[in-house]
Amino acid sequence: MMVNDILQVRGLRLGYGRAMVLNGVSFEVPAKGLIAIVGPNGAGKSSTLGAIAGGNTVSSGTIIFEGKDITGAAPEVIAAAGLSFVPEGRHVFSSLTVEENLRVGTFRRKDRNAVEIDLERVFDYFPRLKERLRQPGGKMSGGEQQMLVIGRALMCRPRLVLIDEPSLGLAPRIVDEVYDILQRLRTEEGLSLLVNEQSSRRVMKYADEIIVLREGAVQLRGEPSALGAETLHDAYFGAGTFDHDSAGGTV
Ligand SMILES: Nc1ncnc2c1ncn2[C@@H]1O[C@H](COP(=O)(O)OP(=O)(O)O)[C@@H](O)[C@H]1O
Ligand SMILES: [Mg+2]
Repeated sequence: MMVNDILQVRGLRLGYGRAMVLNGVSFEVPAKGLIAIVGPNGAGKSSTLGAIAGGNTVSSGTIIFEGKDITGAAPEVIAAAGLSFVPEGRHVFSSLTVEENLRVGTFRRKDRNAVEIDLERVFDYFPRLKERLRQPGGKMSGGEQQMLVIGRALMCRPRLVLIDEPSLGLAPRIVDEVYDILQRLRTEEGLSLLVNEQSSRRVMKYADEIIVLREGAVQLRGEPSALGAETLHDAYFGAGTFDHDSAGGTV
């Protein structure tokens, strides 16, 4: 536990009904870090982010954000504290324009000038959104919709953003474009990021640390360069499943 961790998750357990889907998950996100949780479908990745963002009821464990215990707090309280959540599936309002989608969370704000500054800042990072300002959200490509939901999260001025499966269904080139922008947000704005990805393949290039989650437990964690293909594969699929002939490059 380091003082410069923006998020600390300790012994997180939760279930939907009787069966537990998280069995004591612990990790931390350093300030300005990009941490990636990877793991197969059903591992508990979305449940973990949902618990941190306040949408899932936690059975036990603690979630500390900037030194404050936020375990069990309401989603809007957590968001107001500076932690934004971008759920899986790119939930844009398809009949609202790009601009309306970005403004949707700001209507109650009284600092109208600051809203305009925040909007310009989002356009600095996502020039594609500015080009498509008046287009309906539903007419955007998958990559643009991903940028839109991240941009919308940034309108709340978060210090930590959780993003569930940003790469899903996007072409590799677009995935790189999204991650390049996230890297800029880290270095230029000091943003911290926790992302879920089903595949570790592309996120290895960007993450400070990879956390392999399977069956509701952390199987392996470490710097991407320190994780060998076989170790990673076994953590992801279970020990002894690595196929040397195919070099195990499937994770
Ligand atoms: N709302 C829910 N109700 C019941 N079971 C759920 C619900 N959400 C997820 N689960 C179950 O919890 C487990 C973990 O799911 P999830 O956190 O979505 O994993 P991942 O995001 O890694 O695919 C799975 O077995 C899934 O079926
Ligand atoms: Mg998921």
